[in-house]
Amino acid sequence: MNNNIPITIAIDGYSSSGKSSMAKALAKKIGYRYIDSGAMYRAVTLYAMRNNMVTLDHVVDCEALIASLPNIKIDFKVCDDGQHTLLNGEDVECEIRQLDVSNNVSQVAVIPAIRHALVAMQQAFGTEKGIVMDGRDIGTTVFPNAELKIFVNASAETRAMRRHKELIEKGQPSTYEDVLTNVVTRDHIDETREESPLRKADDAILLDNSNMTIDEQDAWLINKYHEAIANLK
Ligand code: DC
Repeated sequence: MNNNIPITIAIDGYSSSGKSSMAKALAKKIGYRYIDSGAMYRAVTLYAMRNNMVTLDHVVDCEALIASLPNIKIDFKVCDDGQHTLLNGEDVECEIRQLDVSNNVSQVAVIPAIRHALVAMQQAFGTEKGIVMDGRDIGTTVFPNAELKIFVNASAETRAMRRHKELIEKGQPSTYEDVLTNVVTRDHIDETREESPLRKADDAILLDNSNMTIDEQDAWLINKYHEAIANLK
């Protein structure tokens, strides 16, 4: 088994399915770069909200936002408490996780020109492989040739409860009912949009982690990584 050949690992799935946590843990363990593609859509959404391009009932001024794309730079920096997202150099990690951003992000993510721009940036992050990227369309659109593809799911109630607990732990206001509504609404928009909708790639391995502990899912994933490396030979 050759552990030195860098591969591309695509982890897709439903919102709050735990895919980011498992992707991060795997990247750390095997020394790969981790990219949270959802954070990139969230950062663009925050930019739109700050610049009055989203109405209170979640209608996005697509033309203005597309015209602003050259002014939006997204990057990541590694901090003691994990990776932080930068929007034009500003650390927006905390702000992009808030429910008002969650309530607008799917509407931004349906815009084809926004998707094209972010997919190109995501592909640029992965040119040298040795990357774990999580999102909705990584195995289908961003890295269709990824050597390892995982598709994660859990019931909407399980996912909403996890997300609600996470927000409370971070001191952010949250009710379980609001989070559940957001999760179900985002699932629907993500699954039914025309441009690269959320779906399992044919060659992705399905993981339902509803009844798994974090340790169990991390062990499951590292095992799949070792199998993928062994299959390279
Ligand atoms: O993973 P997340 O919940 O932070 O993602 C936020 C939103 O971004 C999600 O509702 C859909 C969108 N998204 C996407 O359309 N494609 C991706 N590759 C990642 C996220």
